[in-house]
Amino acid sequence: MSTDQSSTPRVPDVENPQPTMPLTEDIRPGTANDPPVETVEPDRTATLTVDGESVTVSAESTLLDATEETDTDDYVPALCSYDEHDEIGPRSECRTCMVETEEHGVVPSCSFPAQDGMTVRTDTTEASEARDVNLDLLLSNHNLRCTTCGKNGRCELQDVSIENDVVEPRYGVFDDRDAYEPLDDSSPFIQIDRNKCILCNRCVEACNDVQVEGVLRIEGSGEDTRIGFQNDAETMMDSTCVSCGHCATVCPTGALVEQGLTDAATIPLPGFTQENSIGKTVEAENDRFQPGPATPMKGDQKSESAAEPTAESPPTEDD
Ligand code: SF4
Ligand code: SF4
Ligand code: FES
Repeated sequence: MSTDQSSTPRVPDVENPQPTMPLTEDIRPGTANDPPVETVEPDRTATLTVDGESVTVSAESTLLDATEETDTDDYVPALCSYDEHDEIGPRSECRTCMVETEEHGVVPSCSFPAQDGMTVRTDTTEASEARDVNLDLLLSNHNLRCTTCGKNGRCELQDVSIENDVVEPRYGVFDDRDAYEPLDDSSPFIQIDRNKCILCNRCVEACNDVQVEGVLRIEGSGEDTRIGFQNDAETMMDSTCVSCGHCATVCPTGALVEQGLTDAATIPLPGFTQENSIGKTVEAENDRFQPGPATPMKGDQKSESAAEPTAESPPTEDD
């Protein structure tokens, strides 16, 4: 792997946890800032120790691949990594996948190559603290109105937070954002909700490297960094999107959702109001949220079948 880290994001300082993102001009459209992949001889393997367990993986594997082969003591999330064999990732953007190695200290497991003889631990204080800090940083720029989110129940950020027993992210959540980014509902196929975006870059890579459509990009810098369009369009409708939907498929949060599914996972509670991701109050409409026909209770089924004549019990004269 190249040691040139100039265009890749760095691990935020625990004392002063401001994420340092690469500038847009440092990101090459299409491949963004993928770490260069070493050319390896086919059939070569690497044997390493993960949490005391010896594991042998093919030489082009990452430390994340190696941890997935073992019963690691700790849960290692990997939010910006999708599936490198699908040409998406490793991204090295979110740093939720940190592990500690004897040889190189704390490193992102999704992009660090598994080398022969390495000793890796997922359960050290440093590794788990780095993962927790980085997850909390992602959550601090995310509002957690999950019950009105189209991805509720199928959101990777939610899954990872649950797996990590996150109760209260240490930097808070962006629930009281002064100015929400408006939803981009211009496309009949895909909704963009930038308030839910964790800037993982998966969609950019799916659109540019897999679909080769070159529609999306990450634009801006600092707190203004956002998903935008390569043709400088303001809305999805004015972009060059061909509506293939791949970006929504790989998005780990509710930032890109297929239009037909935007409300699919909300939990409308009659009598309650809820806020959606841009702070708009959603009220339960009585006619809309009446309970629909439910599966009959076993008791009901019994009394119904007792009342209805069947072939085995033909109607009597009294009927
Ligand atoms: S739906 Fe549009 S923006 Fe998304 S991957 Fe396809 S072409 Fe790109
Ligand atoms: S829109 Fe989704 S896939 Fe794209 S960067 Fe944001 S969170 Fe990641
Ligand atoms: S999954 Fe490794 S940096 Fe995001």
